[in-house]
Amino acid sequence: MPEQKKLLKALAGENQKTPPVWIMRQAGRYLPEYRELRATAGGFLDLCYNPEFATEVTLQPIRRFGFDAAILFADILLLPQALGMKLWFETGEGPKLEPVTNMAEIKNLKPIEDIHETLNPVYETVRRLSEELPDETTLIGFAGAPWTVATYMVAGRGTPDQGPARRLMYQDPTAFQALIDLVSDSTIEYLAKQVEAGAEVVKLFDSWAGALSGSTFEQFALKPAVKIATELKRRFPELKFIGFPRGAGGGYVSFADTGVFDGLALDSSVPAEWARDNLQRKVAVQGNLDPMHMITGGDMLVSETQRLLDILGNSPYIFNLGHGITPEGKPENIEKMLNVIRG
Ligand code: CP3
Repeated sequence: MPEQKKLLKALAGENQKTPPVWIMRQAGRYLPEYRELRATAGGFLDLCYNPEFATEVTLQPIRRFGFDAAILFADILLLPQALGMKLWFETGEGPKLEPVTNMAEIKNLKPIEDIHETLNPVYETVRRLSEELPDETTLIGFAGAPWTVATYMVAGRGTPDQGPARRLMYQDPTAFQALIDLVSDSTIEYLAKQVEAGAEVVKLFDSWAGALSGSTFEQFALKPAVKIATELKRRFPELKFIGFPRGAGGGYVSFADTGVFDGLALDSSVPAEWARDNLQRKVAVQGNLDPMHMITGGDMLVSETQRLLDILGNSPYIFNLGHGITPEGKPENIEKMLNVIRG
């Protein structure tokens, strides 16, 4: 009964007295039950590709906190892996890939129709979740936005300034555009399978959109996101779509103006009053409590949560953090935040 789901109502433009709430990275290392299961599985990727384990870790934060949405447990870098890149995670260092740095290497990646062979377990996780989730919980599927995924594909790792991808973008624009197009088109097929398996909302994570500027923001963040959202909504007219151009600043307005996004996730740097005045008439907004409050707690957590509710709570709103909860986040601070939101 989708009309009873709070998250879908917010994305349909409905204002609710108590906003829906979930948090980015809600399944993760800050939860002891996650750490335990990850140790059993072997490692992070073993969790992602095992539908039984991935379903279980997705459900853990729903059981504990009763969030209004569950987000599929997977990673944005499974797609490059499905395109044939070697991917591994080194503890304490984050993801590593064997980079693609020129047209020949980009052309050497697998054809789009081959990605499902690797990603089938992810679709199976979505199917299981859509059966096992409580009726009131919305299931969110996701992918990385082409620019953010490309920054990891080109550098072979996370970088402080996305330098390697920005360099390729200027030095070999043809190769870089080919990479963005490949990731865009394969992301459409990846997300379409998630929706067919039961995802009701999809979120596109452009975590490094803030490293783009002017025309490159339009070309590599806005344009691919619009292409992906437009095509998915053409195929699935009921689908709701959340964009997350993290660090985009004023660029959030260009996202809102396209009319294809039902919601925009705000990073913590976006002033709430500005979002209310410039975005919330056009889209639902989601965010944007500083994740640090999940570590520090106390009166500041309570007053900042209340401040966001006061400013954004009178229009379509989804409560969330401005970015993911970190491993040092404390579950009791989530409880504290939920008490303020739910009264
Ligand atoms: O609960 C959820 O949010 C669902 C699962 C999810 C993960 N990654 C699991 C994960 C989601 C939505 C992501 C998205 C993701 N992955 C992004 C975009 C969002 C963002 O955080 O900006 C990015 C950039 C990645 C790539 C990635 N994956 C990095 C850079 C890292 C290492 C950093 C870190 O936090 O350790 C990962 C690993 C990762 N992805 C973990 C989890 C739970 C930690 C893995 C572990 O258990 O060690």
